Amino acid sequence: MYGRRPGGGGAPRRPGGEPGGRVVGRHAGSVADYSYSKALKSSDLTWDEATLDRWLTNPSALVPGTKMFFQLSSAQDRADVIAYLQLQK
Ligand code: HEM
Repeated sequence: MYGRRPGGGGAPRRPGGEPGGRVVGRHAGSVADYSYSKALKSSDLTWDEATLDRWLTNPSALVPGTKMFFQLSSAQDRADVIAYLQLQK
């Protein structure tokens, strides 16, 4: 229903949870076989603590036209997820 996730197979997956799916320090839209939105591909973002926090707060505010609509409104939840993603570096 939501389509594939970057680095994923058929089911929704989280970039940080995949083998080779590291996200911190990576350029946005750079997983070779994933069909990103044009918006994300041309965003010229690098994923770090600050950009991930803005992304998870509201992806469309950071990258208008993105196809990720999932949001984490809790700052604590965002901090926890980002801390987890940083462990996958
Ligand atoms: C804690 C949960 C999540 C995190 C940390 C997360 C993080 C990310 C990141 C960092 C990207 C950009 C990847 C890249 O540049 O290669 C991304 C893309 C994407 N995510 Fe998520 N995501 C989460 C949950 C979800 C959920 C639940 C969905 C769908 C139900 C979703 C759908 C997508 C889609 C469709 C894209 C591609 C966006 C585009 O091409 O414009 N994400 N996500």
